Amino acid sequence: MKVSVIGTGYVGLVTGVCLAEVGNNVTCLDIDEEKINMLQLGKSPIYESGIEEMMEKNLHENRLSFTTSYSTACERADVIILAVGTPSNPNGSANLLYLQKAAENIGKHLIKDGTIIVTKSTVPVGTNNKVKQWIQQSLTEPIFFEVASNPEFLREGSAIQDTFEADRIVIGTESRYGTHVLKELYSPFQIPTLQTSLESAEMIKYASNAFLATKISFINEIANLCEKLDADIEDVAKGMGMDQRIGPQFLKAGIGYGGSCFPKDTNALVQIAGDIEHRFELLESVIRVNSSQQIKLIGKALDHFGSLKGKKAAILGLAFKPNTDDIRESAAIEVIKTLLHYGATVNAYDPVAIPNMKRLYPESAEIQYTSTAYEAIANADMIFILTDWEEIKELNLPTIAELEKKPVLFDGRNCFDLRTIQKSGLTYHSIGRQILTGARQDPKFVEYGDGFEN
Ligand code: UDX
Repeated sequence: MKVSVIGTGYVGLVTGVCLAEVGNNVTCLDIDEEKINMLQLGKSPIYESGIEEMMEKNLHENRLSFTTSYSTACERADVIILAVGTPSNPNGSANLLYLQKAAENIGKHLIKDGTIIVTKSTVPVGTNNKVKQWIQQSLTEPIFFEVASNPEFLREGSAIQDTFEADRIVIGTESRYGTHVLKELYSPFQIPTLQTSLESAEMIKYASNAFLATKISFINEIANLCEKLDADIEDVAKGMGMDQRIGPQFLKAGIGYGGSCFPKDTNALVQIAGDIEHRFELLESVIRVNSSQQIKLIGKALDHFGSLKGKKAAILGLAFKPNTDDIRESAAIEVIKTLLHYGATVNAYDPVAIPNMKRLYPESAEIQYTSTAYEAIANADMIFILTDWEEIKELNLPTIAELEKKPVLFDGRNCFDLRTIQKSGLTYHSIGRQILTGARQDPKFVEYGDGFEN
């Protein structure tokens, strides 16, 4: 099939490249000329493992091309996929301006009957009908087209794998014709497909992200209780997750969710509900819990040190999760801001996200970036683990314990087993677990074990 993808951000690029990989003829459009030049050379503007190899192969085999021209993208396309950004307005609602512009440009350049225009961007319920109107009003001659909603569920860092091994493909369409065309487009992926109305498909995306965010805030609140009640969140989450009705995923307690989707989509859904005079109190709480969870470690550091003024903090991990350089809504942003506010200085390390964080916090007397984790912790009073990168989980604890200042470890991702920490003699604060004070013996383990399954 001939497919055009409008917008070469995360979703657009991954979708375009994967659709080319299964044999379609794909044209990706972006209005950013510099980005298109880079893409034409096979360079990906996003950090995603495997994407450049797949781009190179499909560029070479002439199934993938990049353009800034709407007439090139629209003239012969069977399917046009809208994957432009829908950023948050100041009140949390989704800003549909990019989507409207893209839809109008498609309308102006559509010359073939039967094209399906698919919205992949996450949009409020009812937006596909607006897309239809925007296109209709921009047509230069009467042309038959249909719209469809096809939300994506890709996770950054495993987006290609997620595309090929998704749990489901959701297709909201206007008619059997649209369903038929999209089912055919996705048939090479052999993934269960759910066909719904446009509105239900739009809602499935928001409801799924809101539910996952709820799971995270829920487990974080349980972790906060565990800290006060001497229970261990890792054991509690394991015990809960063994119940198949609950499931083990998204029960990892920590410093909350970040990224480009959960914060934006939860806020947007609260706003969507508000627009029809429904107060989504549960989701409002989920959002509030997440905001305070992001800076939970600062409270622990203040309790421990009394004051953070003049203290050196090593930050390990800046990305909102491992295997991405994305720092959007990352807890690291708030943690750094708050540490600087309390008069601490910061040494920050991340395997790939430093260039992005430097744009927010340029290097200064207060904040330095290092090229290894060990450099960051060398003269630190405290270490904050904010992203559970594999390399951070493999840090050599005895080396840290031997440092002159013997820094206190504040682990926001529960990267270490308490027994391992206990052996190292480090002082360790984590989420929803016992505080280890550096003493060599801790009777709690001896008496009660630590949750190993029999
Ligand atoms: C998410 C959805 O998973 C995806 O389906 C949707 O299309 C886009 O949003 P992504 O933002 O890439 O994907 O990240 P995800 O892996 O879901 O993690 C989101 C955040 O939640 C991260 O900050 C992560 O650290 C946090 N998280 C996740 C937890 O704190 N605990 C968990 O158990 C799981």
